[in-house]
Amino acid sequence: MDLITTQKQKAAIEAVKHIEDGFIVGLGSGSTAAFAIEALGNRIKTENLHIMGIPSSYQAFQIAINCAIPITTLEEHPQIDVTIDGADQLTCELFLIKGGGAALAREKIVAAASKLNVIIADQSKKVSRLGMNNQFVPLEVIPFALTPVKRKLAELGANPIIRETKGKLGPVITDNGNAVIDSYFGEIVNPAELSVVVKLIPGVVETGFFVGLTDIAYIGTDGGVEKICATKHL
Ligand code: 5RP
Repeated sequence: MDLITTQKQKAAIEAVKHIEDGFIVGLGSGSTAAFAIEALGNRIKTENLHIMGIPSSYQAFQIAINCAIPITTLEEHPQIDVTIDGADQLTCELFLIKGGGAALAREKIVAAASKLNVIIADQSKKVSRLGMNNQFVPLEVIPFALTPVKRKLAELGANPIIRETKGKLGPVITDNGNAVIDSYFGEIVNPAELSVVVKLIPGVVETGFFVGLTDIAYIGTDGGVEKICATKHL
């Protein structure tokens, strides 16, 4: 197994320790979150826990089913105990970019409904400033609005690119039937401010900025797992 995969697994195992019997758990999307779903499935089996999961994407739903995790909905359980999810980039202030798997809208809904949000990542995701290393910010956009949204983003100085599928021609369509624009802003000085500006563009359903939502992050490293807590929890 390569070093990055091992780092993801270590972070996932640490995060799953937050889950207690009877919890409703938000299930994040992406390859790192998949390790947490698998680790949760193992804990349910070996410790006979009564847990229900709320998947943040069709991918998370499928993995949860394969791991025999009972599924519930936000209608039945509008308050989630713990959500564990991955990130594309994060800073030590726990500002995040998410949406590399186009699940950002549901991921944010699940995060906002959670008492505790735990983010897991390998070391490559930790940066001093969001947008470094040519990292784009994914935006979920109503297809009718794609061109006007791109124009507004260009006016803000971004380079917006409609995400195309792999294995099928045409744009990516999210689990909500929308498109995704990957916006290159360069290094982002004030993600909180920019996220509000972008969210206000008509047609933008959600942005990949996650600001003020994360409580704890576990970053897998070669030597162990680094823990970062939001200031409010220190
Ligand atoms: C999906 C996400 C993922 O959590 C993010 O892209 C990280 O994925 P991975 O763990 O595969 O690197 O936000 O929309």
